[in-house]
Amino acid sequence: MFKNASEASQVVATEIATLVRERASAGKPCVLGLATGSTPMGVYRELIRMHRDENLSLRNVVTFNLDEYFPMAPDAAQSYVRFMNENLFDHVDVLSENVHIPDGTIAEESVGKFCDDYESKIAAAGGIDLQLLGIGRTGHIGFNEPRSDADTVTRMVVLNSVTRNDAAENFDGLENVPHHAVTMGVQTILNAQRIRLMAYGEHKSAIVERTVCGDITESIPATFLQQHGDVRFLMDDAAASKLNLSNTSK
Ligand code: F6R
Repeated sequence: MFKNASEASQVVATEIATLVRERASAGKPCVLGLATGSTPMGVYRELIRMHRDENLSLRNVVTFNLDEYFPMAPDAAQSYVRFMNENLFDHVDVLSENVHIPDGTIAEESVGKFCDDYESKIAAAGGIDLQLLGIGRTGHIGFNEPRSDADTVTRMVVLNSVTRNDAAENFDGLENVPHHAVTMGVQTILNAQRIRLMAYGEHKSAIVERTVCGDITESIPATFLQQHGDVRFLMDDAAASKLNLSNTSK
C-alpha cells in the first residue's frame, strides 16, 4: 500500500528498469506485458524519465499489450495503439518491430487466426517476464469480463455494460463505445512470470477487496490471480480502504 499512485508507480517502474537492465547485461530480451488506461500512466511517465535522465534503454524490450477495442482504428483518439505511442513508445528507444498490440482493424473472420498468432508470438518470445495490470470495476483483467475462466487465451470478447459505461466519457457517449474487444486471456496473463496489478482510487476499493479476500470465481476473473506464485497488488490508501487484512488468509 502506498500513500499515492506516484509512489507506487515509481516502485513498479524501478522493478521494470532493473529487470530490463539485468537482461540487457546478459544479452537477453525482456518481455513485458503492458496495460492501457489511467492506471499505468505513472509507470510509463517514470520509464520515460529514466530513459531521458538515467540512461535506461528499452532496445532489448519486447512488448505485448493486453487488449484493444474492436473495431478500432489505430489513430482514433480511444485506440490503445495511439495510447501506447503517446504515453510510452514515442518517447523511448523500444524497437517498433518488438511492439505487439491486438489489431482492431482486421476483418472479423480473421480475428481467430490473429489471436492464435498473438499467443504463438508470446510463446516464441519466451513468455512474458512481467505483466502490468489494472483492474476494472467488474473484476476484469485485460478485458476478461465476468465468466472468463482460468483457461481462456487471446480472443474476441463482448464488453460488460459496466465497462462500457466507464468508457463512455472517453468516447463522448455510451453509444460510441465498441461492444467488443480483443484481449489476452486469463491463462495468457497467469502464464507471466511476474504480475504487478495496480489499483488507485476509492472507486476500485470494492473490487480490490473482493479480488484479494473473496473466493476464486470466474464471476470475478481477477480472483484467479490468487493462484499465481509471483503477483503483487500495488494500491493507494483509497483503493485499499476496504481491505480488512486481519481477515485475509491468502
Ligand atoms: C487496459 C485493461 C483494463 C484496465 C482496467 C482499468 O489495457 O486491460 O483491464 O486496466 O479497465 O482501467 P483504468 O486504469 O482506466 O481504471
